[in-house]
Amino acid sequence: MNKARIAVLISGTGSNMAALVYAAKHPACPFEIVLVASNNPDAPGLRLAAAEGIPIFAHSHKGMTRADHDSIMDAEIRKSGADMVALAGYMRILSAGFVQGWAGKMLNIHPSLLPKYKGLHTHERALEAGDSHGGVSVHLVTEELDDGEILGQTPVAILPGDTADSLAARVLIAEHQLYARVLGDYVRRDFDPVWLTQRVRALAMAEPEAEESLSHGMACFGIKGGKKFAWVSDNHHGDGRVALLVKVSGPEEQAMLIERDEDRYFKPAYFGNDWIAIRLDLGGLDWEEVRQRISASWLAVAPAKLKKALSVADEF
Ligand code: GRF
Repeated sequence: MNKARIAVLISGTGSNMAALVYAAKHPACPFEIVLVASNNPDAPGLRLAAAEGIPIFAHSHKGMTRADHDSIMDAEIRKSGADMVALAGYMRILSAGFVQGWAGKMLNIHPSLLPKYKGLHTHERALEAGDSHGGVSVHLVTEELDDGEILGQTPVAILPGDTADSLAARVLIAEHQLYARVLGDYVRRDFDPVWLTQRVRALAMAEPEAEESLSHGMACFGIKGGKKFAWVSDNHHGDGRVALLVKVSGPEEQAMLIERDEDRYFKPAYFGNDWIAIRLDLGGLDWEEVRQRISASWLAVAPAKLKKALSVADEF
């Protein structure tokens, strides 16, 4: 498996960045760090990254609009060949354009058990509230501050006499453990048959009257009492591929898709000329296309009566 390429953005010490850098040195780590970038040219973490042989980039945000600074960072990240961005103590609010450009591909680490204590002074707030635990969260970055899907958390017990600093120091230990694990799981899931099947399941089962069954060892989805419209083929006859099988209009569309991208599409064995197999396990999958293909396949097998009933229902 190719390793995911990660750009890490920092503003200061960069101890979380360092934890990612050292985790990435393990041969089994599914990601590599291709860039460490900062809005603070004096960030101590930059020196550490450079000493570890990682390309670094710094550009101060001072005297610039947020959008201009973000677009300089964005250009540098893209130039590095990064597939994903890990924010690690990057003390900047990000512009909407930057966030949208990395939707689903940008993670952040935040020193609280989100959704509690978004923003700053998290440890003080946990202590003031009399919480039994502080902690850390790794989450996807969305336009709302510290609000995206939570991918992993570690609670850290608060001790009698803890100060914000003493708690922060212990939470930091948990941060260093958590970030690399969550990032590793996140990049691996694009190649994980169980997770890929779950995503297909969610899309297929959202179709009207859908039901799941197991056929020839494959998860497959059909219309209740009717025909099948989607199959997940996982290492079928040891072919080493995870693919979605859906109906297409006929042999022309099948041939056109294979010609367009013969790594991604193939003719599924034992299925007719009106089916296509789409590899799910190559990374960089367009899930919107998958959704549309599942819907089109459903439409292709749905009985006229059901389609009619639904279009009537739509009018109300
Ligand atoms: C960490 O506590 C992180 O959770 C927060 O900023 C701090 C950065 O520390 N977002 P470091 O630069 O990684 O040492």
